[in-house]
Amino acid sequence: MCASLTRSLKSQSQFSKIALDFLWEFFKLSLKGRHVIQISDLSVQEIDEICGLAEQIIVDPNSFKDVCRGKILAALFFEPSTRTRLSFEAAMLRLGGSVEGFADASYTSTTKGEILADTIRVVSNYADVIAIRSPKEGAALLASEYSACPIINAGDGGHFHPTQTLTDMLTIRQLKGSLEGLTICCVGDLRFGRTVHSLTQAMCRYPKNRFVFVSPKELSIPEYMVEDILKPAGIEYECAERMEEVIDSADILYMTRVQKERFFNEQDYIRLKDSYILDKEKMRRAKKDMIVLHPLPRVNEISYEVDSDPRAAYFKQVKFGMYARMSLMAKLTDAL
Ligand code: NCD
Repeated sequence: MCASLTRSLKSQSQFSKIALDFLWEFFKLSLKGRHVIQISDLSVQEIDEICGLAEQIIVDPNSFKDVCRGKILAALFFEPSTRTRLSFEAAMLRLGGSVEGFADASYTSTTKGEILADTIRVVSNYADVIAIRSPKEGAALLASEYSACPIINAGDGGHFHPTQTLTDMLTIRQLKGSLEGLTICCVGDLRFGRTVHSLTQAMCRYPKNRFVFVSPKELSIPEYMVEDILKPAGIEYECAERMEEVIDSADILYMTRVQKERFFNEQDYIRLKDSYILDKEKMRRAKKDMIVLHPLPRVNEISYEVDSDPRAAYFKQVKFGMYARMSLMAKLTDAL
């Protein structure tokens, strides 16, 4: 009686273990086949998992050199890019996969009048994952509606840029040790700067972060960011016009370029382009353990003299971007 009870309990516990494993398999992070259009398409756990995998790749890149063997990334860049496109390409090549695509849409059927939906319907037959950059807000979302494979938004107009955010978050994790309890001071073109929109959307979801938005009035953070993201998250934030007055509170100083290509009027661009220039003098006011990030390219907003300051982290950030993209693409293509 006792033995049969033990047996039955044993088999019950084995059953529950199998059931638990099944549930875990079922509910655990599965990014396979998913689109990443904005950073909120990923849960906080998924972001942490992607950063965690990127950190494993940093420690032992050799172990990951074949995980995407046979997979193809299509990099469709309808807007200029150096870092993001090459970073995506390097990431796929370092995972053992291959790359196709274009960096200049003037050589594609778009010039013959092909619509984006058709381009995506075609290319998603050739590729396992597509990274798309477009000057038009919503282009990546539209692409995801027609694609047979995962779409990654590599920047849609002045809207969002989720893989830059994974890059920024991995950099913050690596250099500050945590994504919580930070004062993030974003400076520059907060209206058109898509990297700031995505970073804010992401960092709002981690406890005890606060934001300081520094911009001229014309380039302030868009209303939809305030109404749809900051207010619902109950996030503490302030807006300022002078960097000197707030730089001492920053743990992360996130500098951005004034987005020339999104201005309707060149005179406005010329008037606003040098609104903020970070130099040694301003750095003296900042915390000793603050880090300076910038999605790059920089134009004039960080003086070259700052590059040698140990707090300047924008070139380290570039390398973290490649690891973040390796991790994301390995997950989306189900390679890991
Ligand atoms: C950013 C972008 O394209 O939004 N660059 C990048 O992706 N690394 C920032 C910018 O162009 O200013």
